[in-house]
Amino acid sequence: MTDISTKPWWKDAVCYQIYPASFKDSNGDGLGDIPGILSKIDYLKDLGLTEGKVDMGYDISDYEKVYPPYGSVKDMENLIGACHERGMKLILDLVINHTSDQHAWFKESRSSKRNPKRDWYIWKPPRYAEDGTRLPPTNWRSYFSGQTWEYDEHTGEYYLHLFAKEQPDLNWENEETRQAIYDSAMRFWLDKGVDGFRVDTVNMYSKGVEFKDAPIVDGRFYEQPAWLYYANGPRMHEFLREMNQKVLNHYDAVTVGELPHTPDPKKVLDYVGASDKQLSMVFQFDIVDLGQGREHKYHFEEWTLPQLKRIVAKWQQFIEGTDGWTTVFCENHDQGRSISRYASDAAHERVPSAKLLSLMLCALTGTLFIYQGQEIGMINVPPSWPIDAYRDIESVNFYKTMAAQSRDDPAELAYVMRSLQILGRDNARLPMQWDGSEYAGFTDCPGGAWMRVHDLYGEINVERQVREGEASVLGFWKRMIKFRKQHADVLVHGAFEGFGMEDESTFVFGKRVAEKRVAVVLNFTREEQEVELPDYEGLVFTVGSYEDAAKQEEGADGRIRKLRPWEGRLYLSGC
Ligand code: GLC
Ligand code: CA
Repeated sequence: MTDISTKPWWKDAVCYQIYPASFKDSNGDGLGDIPGILSKIDYLKDLGLTEGKVDMGYDISDYEKVYPPYGSVKDMENLIGACHERGMKLILDLVINHTSDQHAWFKESRSSKRNPKRDWYIWKPPRYAEDGTRLPPTNWRSYFSGQTWEYDEHTGEYYLHLFAKEQPDLNWENEETRQAIYDSAMRFWLDKGVDGFRVDTVNMYSKGVEFKDAPIVDGRFYEQPAWLYYANGPRMHEFLREMNQKVLNHYDAVTVGELPHTPDPKKVLDYVGASDKQLSMVFQFDIVDLGQGREHKYHFEEWTLPQLKRIVAKWQQFIEGTDGWTTVFCENHDQGRSISRYASDAAHERVPSAKLLSLMLCALTGTLFIYQGQEIGMINVPPSWPIDAYRDIESVNFYKTMAAQSRDDPAELAYVMRSLQILGRDNARLPMQWDGSEYAGFTDCPGGAWMRVHDLYGEINVERQVREGEASVLGFWKRMIKFRKQHADVLVHGAFEGFGMEDESTFVFGKRVAEKRVAVVLNFTREEQEVELPDYEGLVFTVGSYEDAAKQEEGADGRIRKLRPWEGRLYLSGC
């Protein structure tokens, strides 16, 4: 018997995130769009997905319209309908921490101190240094470099923008603002049939009562990271409860919140406990923060496999014995590609690496999210690409800031480029590689795509992998998604346990539910490694990332196995 109260549809869902700009261009202008997504909908269905997600751009000037180059509201209605016809759901990105500075609300707010919408955004008077120099209200650093405050000559005050200056932060303390957000950004789309939201920067709405200077962690700059003050503010949970009561509950909509800066499992549980309805689940950031620097995310630092394993174990186990839920993901539009980050994208290693990671992810508990291109093993920007090939505001601004600060010091800039090549957001935003034709079949715009296509699109593309079938990365993902569904009780819902957590080369974990056991052994190196299977009775080899693993298993005796470079195997018992 299925208990629907503890097993809503979204727990077993396999979600696929689409970044519309880079998925498929339908009208030859070089930019992906909604009709482009619609034209590939059967590709998505065939992958075995239950759900798709659209990232609509983060500086929204009207919540009730679609950015025209992407299409129209009608196109969205068609897309929602087409998903539902195929038994798939659609969730949208909900960007309500800030709007665009072109939004009518902000234009009004900016127009005068007495405007009724003045308080819809966060305005503060300047501070002055002893010598009379005008200073911003705090020393906070924006995500996209520089200050979080923009001075507006017109009224002589600063407005807050945690992201770009074109993205002013909404004032959630204002009741009327919240109601307008619920209506315009949420009900409008829920009424059109969307099944839920990925909630952008979900823990930054309550800014806290005090606006004070952040401690100095990078003495080279005036601006300092300040998330400690503006993330997880005092009214966060109250706002989310209200959002459920007023809006989400009436639609039974799912939410997955983007939850950076929250390493404490207790704090995460406060957001995802089912009884205190706030968010269905969240993207906790530990796994994607791996390798990011302390002073700045783009100061790459080396990390070790035990660190990765501890992160996986922590976010697998934190829900045990609770009514919370977790997610499984390691890519999105803000991160480097997982093969390049966690395994190897070298010529003969990228295919086994892709399968290794697919096997790992498909065996983990939680709702699985795959990011476009991950299913064909897309990899990071080639190391030879210069900064001019990058488009992302965060990366480009960081490069400019460091170039100015270091006076173009070649060693500093080489380090910045290396960090961006591993961690930069553009790595995930290259056009989707559909086939081996010009511009990877993404666009037929004579000038090419909005962003350069990866040099290796001839080798890594959908058309080729469909032709290669089962042996390809795409074929392996399809097989694993199917397998995950067949054994959802233990793979999606089972309890996790790690073994040999200090081993620097291999990752061995188990999953259990009732009498069922799963053992997964993964080799995260380019050398052969020995692993020991967990001491579960009656394990039977079931899936391997190398095609001939079954043959190798025939002669195997006892619990020791030899894994080839980047090889993964999965064993079952009690089925
Ligand atoms: C989130 C998004 C990111 C965007 C930012 C500002 O972090 O994932 O892409 O730039 O919010 O909206
Ligand atoms: Ca287009």
